[in-house]
Amino acid sequence: MRSTSHTPNHCKAYDNPMKIRKAVFPVAGLGTRVLPATKAMPKEMLTIVDKPLIQYVVDEAREAGIEHFVFVTGRNKGVIEDHFDRMFELDTTLAQRGKKTEQEILAESQPAAGAMSFTRQQSPLGLGHAVWCARDIVGNEPFAVVLPDELVLNTPGCLKQMIEAASALGDKSNVIAVEAVPDELTHQYGICSVGKRTGRIFEVDAMVEKPPQGTAPSNLSITGRYILQPEIFDILATQERGAGGEIQLTDAMIGLAKTQKFYGVEFEGERHDCGSKAGFLRANIAFGLKRPDLRDGLRAEMKKYLGE
Ligand code: G1P
Repeated sequence: MRSTSHTPNHCKAYDNPMKIRKAVFPVAGLGTRVLPATKAMPKEMLTIVDKPLIQYVVDEAREAGIEHFVFVTGRNKGVIEDHFDRMFELDTTLAQRGKKTEQEILAESQPAAGAMSFTRQQSPLGLGHAVWCARDIVGNEPFAVVLPDELVLNTPGCLKQMIEAASALGDKSNVIAVEAVPDELTHQYGICSVGKRTGRIFEVDAMVEKPPQGTAPSNLSITGRYILQPEIFDILATQERGAGGEIQLTDAMIGLAKTQKFYGVEFEGERHDCGSKAGFLRANIAFGLKRPDLRDGLRAEMKKYLGE
């Protein structure tokens, strides 16, 4: 019997109402916050329970109806490409041993042949530059950007929620996922301020990347899920370096907001910043406790450690 945690229903493509077909995954980052784990291994391959981070976000995008997956990689990231390839020897051995469940798990983890593109960000110039590196592959259509170190634990996933919430918005709308963070953490994120609101969606009034402490316009952080119009690429092409000396996506969005609408979506679900040690550990516990095959044992172990 296969474990329910691997059921493929979240992997089935569905026709998303905004017709967002492509998602960009910037995976060139150095992962300095979790060294030495990421010295020889990409941070996107860090494992939450039994799947690498990159698999979670690809599955989230598939659930949202994304059909093509664009990875912006860098040096030492080849294993990400291998992860989504078919491993012939492993497959053959599993077949010979009658391990059908494992074979199915592997098959489900792979997007369709030809549905992935890999391009390189040759220098670490920032998130905005990484997204710009995908311009030729994305072309002239709206697209999603998904940052793999941010995981959201929810069904439906964050991107599907965004696309559904945004389907009522006009053409040429841009959408960002947002979540409130404690005031003392606003300097670590892109922050936006809220204009006219309808339920969980609001018009974004202003955005700022990593505002110095005490200057943030709100505590609503941009959480690593974006739906952007292709005009962002023209702005990124000339975007100056911003916060941290990097070419920032947020700065290009500020430019695009002069001519197009930006909406924020407060999504449902628990967000985990897995690029930090504490966030990574928390995600493992949270995702482990959701797994029917693991939760009872994990709960018992945790009680032991907590001395309950
Ligand atoms: C990036 C974005 C920032 C966003 C954050 C979410 O920052 O630039 O606006 O809030 O991701 O994780 P980074 O974490 O790459 O410094």
